Amino acid sequence: MLDQHRKTEHYAQKINELPAFPAVVSGIIRLIENPLTSMNRIEELMTKDQGLTLKTLRMANSAFYSIPGGAKTLNRAITHLGLESIKQIVLTSTVYELLSTKSNSKFDVGLYWKHSIYTGSVAGLLAQKFNLGKSSDVFICGLVHDMGKVLLNMVDAKSYAETVKLSEETGVHFDEAEKTLDTPRHTHIGMMVAKKWSLPAVIQCCINDHHTERLTTRESTVPEINSVVDAVWLANRMIENMMLDKNGKIQPYTYESEVLKRCEIELKDLEALQPEIEAAIASSESLLKTLS
Ligand SMILES: [Fe+2]
Ligand SMILES: [Fe+2]
Repeated sequence: MLDQHRKTEHYAQKINELPAFPAVVSGIIRLIENPLTSMNRIEELMTKDQGLTLKTLRMANSAFYSIPGGAKTLNRAITHLGLESIKQIVLTSTVYELLSTKSNSKFDVGLYWKHSIYTGSVAGLLAQKFNLGKSSDVFICGLVHDMGKVLLNMVDAKSYAETVKLSEETGVHFDEAEKTLDTPRHTHIGMMVAKKWSLPAVIQCCINDHHTERLTTRESTVPEINSVVDAVWLANRMIENMMLDKNGKIQPYTYESEVLKRCEIELKDLEALQPEIEAAIASSESLLKTLS
């Protein structure tokens, strides 16, 4: 069996062979992030890509965005939703396509995307409620936080399956099983690909640090970035616990930690937010249906 260092090198080589992030999408994101860009300019650029236009309209018309009367044109979608939501749509559909893969005995694609989209949705809600960042940006960070798992399964399904097996047999979470096996972490592999795709720094940090509580061991020292990482850290735990197989051995995550203190969130705040969390999860289901 390859040792961890050789495995990482082998994965890096495989990652190099992955498709590049579409230049047209990078261009649109850059334009949206420039406050001087007009809506017309974005519309003009997007309409040049028919596939992207169709995908955007399909998602904009999902119950998640709930445009009254729907949107038949890109102009209506952009005007009604605003550029931040358009960025969210474009990034979500692009990442979904780039990470497209098949299920196998230890990797359930449907379950993976459910976990991801729920985490994005709840992270966005937490960010909005507790002032942890811009909700639409945090949604994307939550959506892609575990992309390293897809990639690991793509480049080395055998090792991925061994990690899942250990997790199931010993009742520890996937990230803890990775540590026990001393296998390259999904957080690290995910970040390598996020770098290759030149995704924003905040996304890279959320991928790398969504299991890391301590600020001193995180990738970034920027407080605004770490607030977003905290939102994703918390949302990931909440969704993991919610989706836990009740007949399985894996124990729920706990929440008491320096993360909650830092975010000034108490457990009773999370309990009070439960109805909104459930509503956010339910509405994200429609987005999932549109994507798949
Ligand atoms: Fe993870
Ligand atoms: Fe996760």
